[in-house]
Amino acid sequence: MIRSATAALALPFRAAPALAAVTLALTVLAGAGPTASAWLTGLLVNELTSGTASAERAAVLAVGSALAGGGAVALLYLCGHLGDVVQHRVALTVESRLFRRIAALPGLRHVEDPAFHDRLRLAEEAAQDAPGTVSQFAQEAVRSAVLLFGFTGALLLVWPPMVPLLLVCAATAVLARLATARREAATEEAWVAADRRRLFYRALLTDVRAAKEIRLFGLGSLLHTRMVDSLTAVSGARLAAARRGTLAQSGLALLGAVVGGIGTVVVAVGVGSGRATVGDLVLFLGAVAGVQGGVSGVVLQLGEAGRAVRLFGHYLDVVGTPDDLERGTGIPLREAEIRLHDVWFRYSDDGPWVLRGVDLTIPPGAAVGLVGVNGAGKSTLVKLLCRFYDPQRGSITWGGVDLRELDVAALRARIGVVFQEFMAYDLTAAENIGIGQVRDLDDRQRVTSAAIAARVDDVLDALPRGYDTMLSRTHADGERTGVALSGGQWQRVALARCLMRADAELLVLDEPTSGLDAVGEHRVHETLRRHAAGRTRLLVSHRLSALRGADLIVTLSGGRIAERGRHDELMDAGGEYARLFRLQAGGYQDGRVR
Ligand SMILES: Nc1ncnc2c1ncn2[C@@H]1O[C@H](COP(=O)(O)OP(=O)(O)O)[C@@H](O)[C@H]1O
Ligand SMILES: [Mg+2]
Repeated sequence: MIRSATAALALPFRAAPALAAVTLALTVLAGAGPTASAWLTGLLVNELTSGTASAERAAVLAVGSALAGGGAVALLYLCGHLGDVVQHRVALTVESRLFRRIAALPGLRHVEDPAFHDRLRLAEEAAQDAPGTVSQFAQEAVRSAVLLFGFTGALLLVWPPMVPLLLVCAATAVLARLATARREAATEEAWVAADRRRLFYRALLTDVRAAKEIRLFGLGSLLHTRMVDSLTAVSGARLAAARRGTLAQSGLALLGAVVGGIGTVVVAVGVGSGRATVGDLVLFLGAVAGVQGGVSGVVLQLGEAGRAVRLFGHYLDVVGTPDDLERGTGIPLREAEIRLHDVWFRYSDDGPWVLRGVDLTIPPGAAVGLVGVNGAGKSTLVKLLCRFYDPQRGSITWGGVDLRELDVAALRARIGVVFQEFMAYDLTAAENIGIGQVRDLDDRQRVTSAAIAARVDDVLDALPRGYDTMLSRTHADGERTGVALSGGQWQRVALARCLMRADAELLVLDEPTSGLDAVGEHRVHETLRRHAAGRTRLLVSHRLSALRGADLIVTLSGGRIAERGRHDELMDAGGEYARLFRLQAGGYQDGRVR
């Protein structure tokens, strides 16, 4: 809590040091205004009721009082504006730090963890809120401290017992508000998952990719109901937390009024009996109102700040998230053999094992086919090769060196992958390919040759603005709307992106051709054979005929390699591969699809 508060408080001074300091100084000055004004008013009244009043002195006091009060108000506005400027700088700093951390996470363990996403949402919200509310609270606290200091002096002069009475009221209010803040923050934490669901439904209702199914299956009203239900539940919980806080604060306000009333009666009686002057009474009334106003201002801000500080802890957690895997320092060898030694892997400590002792050697330059039913773990194996995760047991070596010892970025620079769930970016056609090798993003010749190799060159050339056409259904490119590609065309764009990686020693195609017809798939494999000759290739495919020419075919079953060999050897062995191959070949011969 204290760590979060100091971190949130320090942020403005880090984001905009000079401005934050000036704002703080002006705030202190603004705090002194009302006290000075009240003192001067008290003196004025005493002057006027003294019997020997001097019009000149009275005028000076009146003008001074007005100036002090008015100046403080003007300063407050100025502080408010400067505070806004500081807040903008802080928001920028905070957002940048948060997303820099996320962009730099080397593995997928956090990104694929729902709890991490919940924390991220809290962190984002807190990062927006906390520095502003905390520094506003700090400003308010400083201003009020100066103000309270002055008023307390006045109260001590007029009727000292009022000070402890007001102190007790203030302390109770502070404690009550802090309790409310804790409840509010706990509510946010408890409901963040539900709120994320709401955002999910909301995004789904406007998602172009989901639009077909939503309409065909008539999901619109179901999703809408769920979205509204989540919203109702979340805002109900928030309101309930706020309601209890409001009740407590109203009770305390009432107590404050009673205490103020008692003090006023005591001092008024004093004036009646000549122990105090009317000026004392005016000063006393001003001081009580000032103290109570100051305290309630601070308490209000304290609540906001307390809630924000607690949630700000999530921001600190996310920003301080340790890497989910060691980065390593070694540089991967060229033309290296890749070996999996007894690799065991599961996604979570209590989840089922996906890979159970996989042993596989991929010789440099070889084309290896990977076969297995859905869920066999083929894509998982690809993820391990890219080192998005480390295996729990066993190891993967590249040229004899454990992947864990290699520099993770250098390793990935040697790998080109078309993932099973490849991305279709809302960027231009050229960018969609060029980002495969960011340093060559603007090298149109390289982009075009990658497109030619992936046999998507004609399609892209024929687009309204050629390679500069925006490939998107949701973003307009200036005046023109984007263009939508078909699934198979997107797959070829993804392949071209992968082929941009000139340094890639290992090319992985994870069922990249599922959107292509048999002829298209055959062509892709042909291209790859020519284009990627000499590089190591790992091909995952459902269509066994496409893997026929591979140097080695392995089947993955039950988390282990069940069969391995060349096509002919596996056919001769008469195992699962041979059975599946005959089944598929039969399907094609009959003219049936599968
Ligand atoms: N991110 C993940 N978290 C938890 N389980 C996963 C994750 N990704 C895949 N799995 C599980 O791992 C198993 C293997 O999945 P996958 O490697 O995608 O299979 P394949 O590519 O062979 O179809 C499946 O049971 C799947 O549910
Ligand atoms: Mg897969």
